[in-house]
Amino acid sequence: MLAVSQYERNKKNRTRINADASRRAAETAEFSGFSPPRSQRLCVRLTIFATIRFCFTAPSGYEPLLIRAHPLNLHSSASYSFFPTTTNTLMTYFRNSITAMTGYIPGEQPQGSKLIKLNTNENPYTCSPKVRAAIGHAIQAGLQKYPDPSATAFRQRAGELLGVDADWILCGNGSDDILTIVTRALVDVGDVVRYPNPSYVLYKTLAEIQGAKCDVVEFEPDWSLGTAFSVSHDRLKLAYLANPNSPSGTVLSPEEITKIADALPCPLLVDEAYVDFAETNCVSLVAQNEKIMITRTLSKSYALAGLRFGFLIAQPQLIDQFAKVKDSYNCDTLAIAGATAAIDDQQWFEQTRSDILATRTRLTEALTKLGFACTPSQANFVWCRHPDHASEPLYQQLKTNGVLVRYMNYPNWDDGLRVTVGTDEQVDAFLTILSDLI
Ligand SMILES: Cc1ncc(COP(=O)(O)O)c(C=O)c1O
Repeated sequence: MLAVSQYERNKKNRTRINADASRRAAETAEFSGFSPPRSQRLCVRLTIFATIRFCFTAPSGYEPLLIRAHPLNLHSSASYSFFPTTTNTLMTYFRNSITAMTGYIPGEQPQGSKLIKLNTNENPYTCSPKVRAAIGHAIQAGLQKYPDPSATAFRQRAGELLGVDADWILCGNGSDDILTIVTRALVDVGDVVRYPNPSYVLYKTLAEIQGAKCDVVEFEPDWSLGTAFSVSHDRLKLAYLANPNSPSGTVLSPEEITKIADALPCPLLVDEAYVDFAETNCVSLVAQNEKIMITRTLSKSYALAGLRFGFLIAQPQLIDQFAKVKDSYNCDTLAIAGATAAIDDQQWFEQTRSDILATRTRLTEALTKLGFACTPSQANFVWCRHPDHASEPLYQQLKTNGVLVRYMNYPNWDDGLRVTVGTDEQVDAFLTILSDLI
């Protein structure tokens, strides 16, 4: 009985999906204003007819996939290929919010290429040798056992460095994992999340996964935030604020953050992914205001983007709730060992940080000399635009010449190039190529 009704449902779905495909093909032809010759119009009609007919005669378990039905491709008619029905019928089982969303598109990560990679704000230096040693020891000790579910060693060491108790820290598989945990714990279908624009694009994706609505507040032209960011809203459950912000590299002061958090009705997640390159941070605010929570990552300032380790700093009663949402073993043994060794090596950290800050100054000055408008950055990247050269072709030409930077085009905002601070050699090579292009 169950099998029969499943069959009926599959059949209905096939009919609907293929009728949809035919309708879309017809609509595309109409919208494009393309009027094919009579013989081709006949061909389309036959195709639609054949598709609908096939829906009713296709053997159970298979369905036709209409391809090449685009009006510009009419001469090729339509073809069928066969796929198991599960490909399409299971689409109806996905939550609407998932099928409706686009999904986050990470920056380009060409593997093993010789490109100078200045596009995703990685640290250009290799991590502390102590990290490699710690991971080697962990491998020698064996990986047959599960890791410590709460990464105690890391939390204790990070707590000492930051002046908080270990139970104010929750570790994650990168800070993206922490952002996911916080969003899953706080935001329900129909709730509202707030974040500024332009900023980290993942906030939108996280909200969409939950089926939440996004209240996007535009940055002012000087990258300050108006009072709209703090106003109350019935279903506002979470506000994200990258500080330093990406792509601008600008920072709101701890006083401004306090003001925003005081006015907001909901928790404020201050994303401090780049804070080690900035002059201020908001850790001390967490004890003063329960609403303020901070995310940190080892991807940038500790050169461990490939290891995946981030953490949350929040009051312990909140940490307890978020811990219920995370995967039991969200940080693996190697990541915990490597991350703990990384924060233990403050000498490596200070040296690398000051190298990057010095190169950032050089990069900003050189770009400015080439006529770029650069936003003063407190992160390991610089956001820039040239008044006479469009950003996208520049990005393409740089790529052709072996340098990858990030081209970003935000709604309601100018597009631009975000250039990660590399080594001096990388930045010199980038500047040489760039000056030939403009
Ligand atoms: C503002 C911001 N937050 C968080 C992250 C994620 O970092 P992680 O590598 O720790 O997931 C990024 C990564 O680029 C970022 O730009």
